[in-house]
Amino acid sequence: RTATVALNTQRIVSDISPLIFGGFAEHMGRCIYEGIYDPKSPLADERGFRPDVMKALKDLNYRIMRYPGGNFVSGYRWTDGIGPKADRPRRRALAWRSIETNQFGPHEFMEFAEELKTEPMWAVNLGTGSIQDAADLVEYMNLPTGTHFSDLRAKNGHKDPYGVKYWCLGNEMDGPWQIGHLDAVAYADKAVEAAKLMRWMDPTIKTIACGSSNTAMPTFPEWDRVVLERTYDHIDYFSMHYYVGNPNMNSKEAVDTDSYLASSVHFDEHAETVAAAIRLAKAHTRSRKDVGLCWDEWNVWYREVGGDGNWEEAPHILEEVYTLEDALVVAQWLSTFLRKADIVRIACIAQIVNVIAPIMTRADGLFLQTIYHPLMMFSQHAAGNSLDVLVRAPTHETRKFGEVSLLDVTASHDPATGKGAAFLVNRSQTEALEVTVKWEDVAPDALTQAWQMTGRDPMATNSFEQPEAVTIHTINPPALNAGTATLTLPPLSFTVLTS
Ligand code: AHR
Repeated sequence: RTATVALNTQRIVSDISPLIFGGFAEHMGRCIYEGIYDPKSPLADERGFRPDVMKALKDLNYRIMRYPGGNFVSGYRWTDGIGPKADRPRRRALAWRSIETNQFGPHEFMEFAEELKTEPMWAVNLGTGSIQDAADLVEYMNLPTGTHFSDLRAKNGHKDPYGVKYWCLGNEMDGPWQIGHLDAVAYADKAVEAAKLMRWMDPTIKTIACGSSNTAMPTFPEWDRVVLERTYDHIDYFSMHYYVGNPNMNSKEAVDTDSYLASSVHFDEHAETVAAAIRLAKAHTRSRKDVGLCWDEWNVWYREVGGDGNWEEAPHILEEVYTLEDALVVAQWLSTFLRKADIVRIACIAQIVNVIAPIMTRADGLFLQTIYHPLMMFSQHAAGNSLDVLVRAPTHETRKFGEVSLLDVTASHDPATGKGAAFLVNRSQTEALEVTVKWEDVAPDALTQAWQMTGRDPMATNSFEQPEAVTIHTINPPALNAGTATLTLPPLSFTVLTS
């Protein structure tokens, strides 16, 4: 079967915000402890960071990192994590029924973020935390010395303000599972008061209000409409969360791989719905400013759903092992961010190590999960403008989404460097596609590189024993003739072309 793709560097969706290549590190399971901070490992440096983990993280080129939760943050006292480590309290972390030792806290996270060269994004506790606690944290992190909390920061070893710019006003406050859950009006009112105080401390910060936890919430999208209208003047971004699976963990349907591989239809619609709520709030509030989407939790997650830490330190929870088909879905999710580049301005994969993560560690090493590879490809090669790609491809019928194209394609072009990239997923489980890509205006001289990830078994995974069972390989880039290249995409494949 054949398909055509037309690219034009003048047909632009929007510039791509580099912050869509973000991560999320929560105090849960083995994400922080035994993940990014592992002082007991023979591999760890004097700060407790492991060079192998840091290298794998650096290759993903994360531009922003959300911290410290997640559900964890709604019961977190940030003052527990500062001062001499020996004096920091051990506490029950109620969200994940775990023990929190507080050996990793604000200073350790900032050291980690600096090393990764990533922008920190802090979530404040609007569950058990007060608006005063939130403002105090901004004072601690961002103000020059001369007041109580900024002086305390200096006493704890960091005289200069950290200047944290991005601040999430709580986490998933629509969820009854959330510590201190609120209804939309109560949350919005608390978020506005917190944002007010936080900005009075530091007027340069950007704030992000909580959107719905997922599209299956009975309050979606009403929560979003109400919160947006009440907070609009006080926020810069609005958050979205969503996790996907095959089968969907919320339904009793049998495995439906064709629908799963068409998940980006849902991702696109989700972004459009929340963007529509933003437009409505902008009109109602007669505002002139825009609010961006901050998709600060997204990933495949449906197998390891328990989350009961049995009151252990660093329990093995949510250690999802990813498949080839999951990687194809992750590739399409990143394509959604490019297709919706005008509205999606921040995105963070949840999470970064061990807990529903692209990297899995044990004391003596790590392996890269299948989903690591599309994340790295997009993060390293999508830059500049997202192009509005024209695609003609065969379709097939899916149970969840009706008729869906077999081909998912996005592309970028950076006028500053002249570099371009195209990202193609063949969603078919059985059929190869012969794709002709045409550069309509300025054609590159040649395609510089090409990569492909594919396999026969959609459920194939990597492991410590077989770390490269599913990986991405370089392939010969197809030749360009008169601005046109033809290549074959095997079934179940993800291909990247750069120019
Ligand atoms: O990322 C895991 C959890 O998923 C987060 O703590 C929470 O915000 C979401 O429900």
